[in-house]
Amino acid sequence: MLVPMRKIQQVSFGGPAVLQLAESEKPVPGEGQVLVRVRAAGVNPADWKIRNGLVVGDLPLTVGLDFSGVVDSAGTRFKPGDEVYGVTFPPNGSYAEYVAVSEDALAAKPESLDHVEAAALPIAALTAWQPFTRLFPVGPGHRVLVHAAAGGVGHLAVQIAKAKGAYVIGTAREAKHAFLRDLGADELIDYTTSDFSKSQVVDVVLDPISGDYGPRSLDTLKPGGSLIDIVGHGPDRTEVRRKAEELGLRFDEFYVSPSGSDLAEIAALADAGSLRVSIAEVLPLEQAAKAHELSESGRVQGKLVLTIQG
Ligand SMILES: NC(=O)c1ccc[n+]([C@@H]2O[C@H](COP(=O)([O-])OP(=O)(O)OC[C@H]3O[C@@H](n4cnc5c(N)ncnc54)[C@H](OP(=O)(O)O)[C@@H]3O)[C@@H](O)[C@H]2O)c1
Repeated sequence: MLVPMRKIQQVSFGGPAVLQLAESEKPVPGEGQVLVRVRAAGVNPADWKIRNGLVVGDLPLTVGLDFSGVVDSAGTRFKPGDEVYGVTFPPNGSYAEYVAVSEDALAAKPESLDHVEAAALPIAALTAWQPFTRLFPVGPGHRVLVHAAAGGVGHLAVQIAKAKGAYVIGTAREAKHAFLRDLGADELIDYTTSDFSKSQVVDVVLDPISGDYGPRSLDTLKPGGSLIDIVGHGPDRTEVRRKAEELGLRFDEFYVSPSGSDLAEIAALADAGSLRVSIAEVLPLEQAAKAHELSESGRVQGKLVLTIQG
């Protein structure tokens, strides 16, 4: 007998009101996939960018990119009952009671974290981890500038760069400096009152803001330095590309990749106490629209998470 599940679906692009609570059959895992019972789903800015059509997706779609839950069907690496966290993509999103997902996009949930904390990690932590381990591997002696340091990606990027031994500078408004100092940031700049481009000399910049932050961030880089823009689709990068080329500096646009092996390393960091995730607010699945409104405010400190009962 087919068993229905609840999920947050959209059949048109638009504001938070297009998010609908819907019922459908549980997904059937395909080759290389397992079925996961989702306990909590992370909320990421990409969710509302897809919702409003800024990033194009196929309709109808189930929203959500990451989750933590319990394996329901046997795979080759995971068995029923295993606690896992991972990444999925719309139309088969994570704002749902079940998700069928590739085993390669999963790792064992960090043992020290509950499902809410684990669900907050995959997309944001991979977006901090992959640039700092692949595009510009950071280590002792490096000075690292993280913009939007108090955000979902930023507060994890600060800790990952610190765990790798770097000196870390973050931009955030003053009210968030104590939070970031507690996570290990060495220096903080209140971007509302001072110009980071005038005061810093760094090896690498992680930029979740883009726009005029691009050319201004290039002004902070040492020769051989690297600017990594993680915003994704949207901003025009013509000016920053031109300026980077002129100055002989590296500029990359970064897009996150699902990776179970990276998630395993991130879990180890969390279990060692070197990566803490800060939860701004936890809402039930039914309040996905409210979670999107909060995320779109651009002011969230840490991560928003949806919980799924039942
Ligand atoms: N390319 C990819 O694969 C990928 C993956 C993940 C995320 N992203 C993108 O990366 C961006 C950040 O994601 P996120 O999850 O970290 O977002 P978020 O959690 O919503 O970021 C919110 C934070 O941004 C800070 N902020 C806003 N404007 C700022 C400014 N001008 N300077 C410094 N800080 C500022 C806010 O702190 P204050 O109150 O201090 O301003 C707030 O704490 C989004 O655009 C997202 O779509 C891309």
